Amino acid sequence: MTMPTMKDLRGAVAVVTGGAGGIGRAMGRRFGQEGMKVVLADVLAEPLDEATRALTAEGIEAIGVVTDVTDYSSVESLAEQALDRFGAVHVVCNNAGTGAVSEGYMWEHDLADWRWGIDVNVLGVIHGIKAFVPILLDQGEGHVVNTCSGNGGFAPIARGAMGGPATAVYPMTKAAVLCLTESLYTHLEMTGTGVRAHVLFPGGFLNTGIWESWRHRPDQYAPTQERRTPDQTLARVVDRFESAGVHVEFTPLETVADLVVEGIGKDTFWMMGPPAPSDEVVSKKAASILARGEPDYLVDVLGKHAGRSADNEGEK
Ligand SMILES: NC(=O)c1ccc[n+]([C@@H]2O[C@H](COP(=O)([O-])OP(=O)(O)OC[C@H]3O[C@@H](n4cnc5c(N)ncnc54)[C@H](O)[C@@H]3O)[C@@H](O)[C@H]2O)c1
Repeated sequence: MTMPTMKDLRGAVAVVTGGAGGIGRAMGRRFGQEGMKVVLADVLAEPLDEATRALTAEGIEAIGVVTDVTDYSSVESLAEQALDRFGAVHVVCNNAGTGAVSEGYMWEHDLADWRWGIDVNVLGVIHGIKAFVPILLDQGEGHVVNTCSGNGGFAPIARGAMGGPATAVYPMTKAAVLCLTESLYTHLEMTGTGVRAHVLFPGGFLNTGIWESWRHRPDQYAPTQERRTPDQTLARVVDRFESAGVHVEFTPLETVADLVVEGIGKDTFWMMGPPAPSDEVVSKKAASILARGEPDYLVDVLGKHAGRSADNEGEK
């Protein structure tokens, strides 16, 4: 038997990692519009300052805390600063993430790419859980929202926008985020607390910094191999989609933020939009497992099946 969940967000406190840009910034703004106090956390100091100021200019009570989610002491300090400033934390969004930077087949990926992806996308979430959940448990209520992705959360996108193999790093980390959140859900349930776990699947084509994460690659994860192909850019990905006849329309980030607020209100574990093409992957994956069949649900980023067909570009 669990405790009732939070219904009124007004006056409550939200902490959002990766809050300087993209989805995190949109969530922070949306929380502020609900009357929440907002703590934006990000490793990039300048965009964080800019994002925090933008919220404050809208009349939202917000602070920015420079935080590196790969470093537990930094996340602990984030929790302390949130408590010092606002006295409580009710919603924690473990959202900071880094995107596809690796090239080639997975056995060719730079080990530094693996370490960076795992440290931010997986360890960062673990750090958020470890630093914040005890605070929420003490209060007896609260929400943890972990940002996942259909890419990995459901199945890896096997082939990238440029036709070659897609990164194996990113989907692996997002599969871990789903698994971590499922465990968190169960562990919270076992304590009988009102603290709830949610997993967020931002849907659609989103214009965020994740496509070009390499621009802010920290020195500690500097590449150890020479690059053979250009770094990914959003412009090139869009070109590729358009030339494959797929019109790119960006989903407003507010839509993702709305999903989070709605999911908290309705207490939904799966924070997902309306039925999407990716739902088909989920059905096909379940059928494949139950039939002990081939993993025929694996698709490329353009939605085509990535099986062994003669016309698959880059297939060796
Ligand atoms: N954009 C998409 O299409 C999409 C789809 C599904 C899931 N996601 C997920 O959404 C989340 C937010 O990404 P986004 O798309 O808004 O991209 P983004 O690059 O705009 O935002 C990610 C933020 O995380 C921050 N960050 C990176 N490393 C950090 C670290 N060590 N410590 C603290 N902050 C760090 C970045 O500085 C950046 O501000 C990510 O977890 C991403 O995997 C994005």
